[in-house]
Amino acid sequence: MSCEILVLYYSRHGAVRQMAQLVARGVGEVAGATARVRTVPEVTSVTEARAPAVPDAGAPYAELKDLVECRGLALGSPTRFGNMAAPLKAFLDSTSELWLKGALAGKPAAVFTSTSTMHGGQETTLITMMLPLLHHGMVIVGLPYTQPELSLTTAGGTPYGPSHTAGTASDAPLSDHEKKLCIAQGHRLAEIALKLAA
Ligand SMILES: Cc1cc2nc3c(=O)[nH]c(=O)nc-3n(C[C@H](O)[C@H](O)[C@H](O)COP(=O)(O)O)c2cc1C
Repeated sequence: MSCEILVLYYSRHGAVRQMAQLVARGVGEVAGATARVRTVPEVTSVTEARAPAVPDAGAPYAELKDLVECRGLALGSPTRFGNMAAPLKAFLDSTSELWLKGALAGKPAAVFTSTSTMHGGQETTLITMMLPLLHHGMVIVGLPYTQPELSLTTAGGTPYGPSHTAGTASDAPLSDHEKKLCIAQGHRLAEIALKLAA
């Protein structure tokens, strides 16, 4: 059975994009699962789409049908003042018609984020990213402490989902522990999506 997982992210400086690629790698490790990687356009303060219809590079922009067609969702955002970034929130705010139909109810979902600073709001971002997904009836999939890197990391990585501490210049590379947790999250999400779909 083919089981596609939507890896949907927003990234300005590249950290969350790199995390998304690792989550997608974890999805691809699971037999029968594949990742569909999508991003969202920038928004301005007046919330107009300001990007071209097709991005110049990187993942295509997400459409509502991606959420419908995929059996699970990994949602990634940089932390913005302890919360998810506006472009991703704008996309989620466009999903009312799916919510009305219960189109995502029962599908598994995971979240991931990147911050500048260690205590700059990774957990608040991850937990608040879960709220719209819970309204949709999605089943939240975190990271258990059976994953050894959760106890070993001195940077990002939480039971609520993978995270990265990018530094004040937003240029710190992902640590090995952070990378492994991204892959583990994709793997776990795909395994659970397959079980739920069976
Ligand atoms: C408007 C704005 C608000 C931010 N708020 C936070 C914050 O609350 N805590 C933090 O640690 N980093 C904050 N950052 C930094 C980003 O979360 C961080 O650079 C992140 O790694 C960027 O991810 P990206 O490389 O995928 O764009 C903020 C950045 C911007 C532009």
